[in-house]
Amino acid sequence: MVDDLGLRPGDVVLDLGCGPGLWTPMFAEKVAPGGNVVGVDISKELIDYAALRIADHPLSGSMRFEVGNFEATPFDDGAFDAVFLGNCCCYASDFSRVLREAKRVSRGRVFSKDFDGGTVIYHPAEERLTATVLAAAARALQETPPQPAFDNFIGRKMHGAFRSAGFSDVETRPYAIQLNSPLGEPAKRYVEGNARWLGAMAAPHLSDEDRERWSKAFDPVSGVLDREDFYFCMVEMITKGSV
Ligand SMILES: C[S@@+](CC[C@H](N)C(=O)[O-])C[C@H]1O[C@@H](n2cnc3c(N)ncnc32)[C@H](O)[C@@H]1O
Repeated sequence: MVDDLGLRPGDVVLDLGCGPGLWTPMFAEKVAPGGNVVGVDISKELIDYAALRIADHPLSGSMRFEVGNFEATPFDDGAFDAVFLGNCCCYASDFSRVLREAKRVSRGRVFSKDFDGGTVIYHPAEERLTATVLAAAARALQETPPQPAFDNFIGRKMHGAFRSAGFSDVETRPYAIQLNSPLGEPAKRYVEGNARWLGAMAAPHLSDEDRERWSKAFDPVSGVLDREDFYFCMVEMITKGSV
């Protein structure tokens, strides 16, 4: 994904909503020598963690982190060659405001990496049950929008959002993220956590029976995550636009 961004040595990059800064060093490597990366997040705890995480990185001098809001940053117009938003727009009550701000501070390109929870495949969970859980989650999000905001189906909306925000050369590329058997422990924790989170979101609109069946479907003691035919896949997409 990072290779596809086309970052160049010397670029100045804003990692907006950087969280724990998992992506920031990968950007720093692409823009070296001569470039630098600024990570911004609303959470001071995550910013402190991100700074600690890169403290021993050979390019630590070309990265810095600061607390800030992705809807209103302190940066000048056109301060960055590229602005990256990683899984952020799903948390914005109005993601067009975030895109406007990213566009304002970019003199080149803006990238948004998002997921779309409508495309998730869990196998061997029963297909009808997965579809029922996804539909129930979609209904819960629509009828009782979470506070703070969260949109599980953001990925499909970003291409249009970039066009509406006035970007040129808008392109969206999908990436299939898949986890096949045999799953390592982190992958098992991820799949189980992801399924539990989806089930919790869907719960108000599931029958007792479906709620029970879904929670059993990924119970680690059932051995489902160790099955030879286990397969998980979801789609993430990166939308890019030029200012
Ligand atoms: C899912 S995390 C993504 C972190 C990172 N970009 C990544 O892809 O690993 C979303 C991040 O958005 C941050 N966030 C939420 N609302 C924000 C706001 N108004 N301004 C800045 N950051 C915000 C959260 O603190 C969180 O770190």
